[in-house]
Amino acid sequence: MNSVRPVSPERLPELLRLMPKAELHIHIEGSLEPELIFALAKRNGVALPYASVDELRSAYAFTNLQSFLDIYYAGASVLLTEQDFYDMARAYFLKAAADHVVHAELFFDPQTHTARGVSMETVVRGLHRACVDAQAGQGISASLIMCFLRHLSEEEAFETLEQALPYRELIVGVGLDSGEVGNPPEKFARVFARCRELGLHLVAHAGEEGPPAYIWTALDLLKVERIDHGVQAAKDPALMQRLARDRIALTVCPLSNLKLCVFPDLAQHNLRQLLDAGLAATVNSDDPAYFGGYMNDNFTQTFAATGMQASHAWALASNSFEASFAGQADKRKNLDSLAACFETFS
Ligand code: ADE
Ligand code: ZN
Repeated sequence: MNSVRPVSPERLPELLRLMPKAELHIHIEGSLEPELIFALAKRNGVALPYASVDELRSAYAFTNLQSFLDIYYAGASVLLTEQDFYDMARAYFLKAAADHVVHAELFFDPQTHTARGVSMETVVRGLHRACVDAQAGQGISASLIMCFLRHLSEEEAFETLEQALPYRELIVGVGLDSGEVGNPPEKFARVFARCRELGLHLVAHAGEEGPPAYIWTALDLLKVERIDHGVQAAKDPALMQRLARDRIALTVCPLSNLKLCVFPDLAQHNLRQLLDAGLAATVNSDDPAYFGGYMNDNFTQTFAATGMQASHAWALASNSFEASFAGQADKRKNLDSLAACFETFS
């Protein structure tokens, strides 16, 4: 579609909700709702430092990334069995289907679990089974991206990669997450080089809170194909040109940025600026159970706050398919169904 016809302001939220979309930045542990945290704690006999769901939820008042990560890792401590990982991902896929997500690439943090004695096999098999059922039941194509925790060492990342090798065929790529500032991409250059040799796709969080320099090194030293977040790129005009020229997708997460105080309010979010500068930005939920919204909440609230139009909706959804690690035939099919959806709004 070369030109997108305007859609009236009243109908725009409906278009945003109904259009098919891909989610490329969801930490599956960040989809654990407080109710499920309590249910799994009970099932597994895990003690929580919160008396109730409401008390836990009221702790979700974050001031920056680290203040969130402390609670996020505590929440993940209830996950012990393959069924727990399945149930968590299953709940996410049902929410994603309701938001017309037709393709999802799930981040998972194995080191959060292996450090507690949960095996890589337990984690990967539970998540993979949920991916298979999402395809069969909801028609969502789904794959797994294993993230290395950047606050841990290079050696620990190599050990994690070793543990994952028996499940290589169940993992589409690797990523880099956790506390960004002080843990630059170059710390993991050798691990990512090895992953590249293994034929894994490469992504990394960069420029969420960290400087544009981290985006440059993620591109040039880690050789990533997408940047997760990347919103700090706007501070560096040469970097903006590089990202636009090379069509490097940014997996932007507006409600996450709001809740972690990266932007003071959604009206000041720079998603529209990134798109208007020709960058391949996408919209994603990051950790929806913690940040107050899944995919469609991210779309509708950000459009309402920034005045973006149908042409931006088209760009965001088509970028999500083009930047995905799906096969060419799936990409084509999803782009065709996106075009058909826009036709019904013209
Ligand atoms: N792990 C889960 N959510 C994250 C985020 N927004 N940034 C870095 N690491 C994360
Ligand atoms: Zn993230």
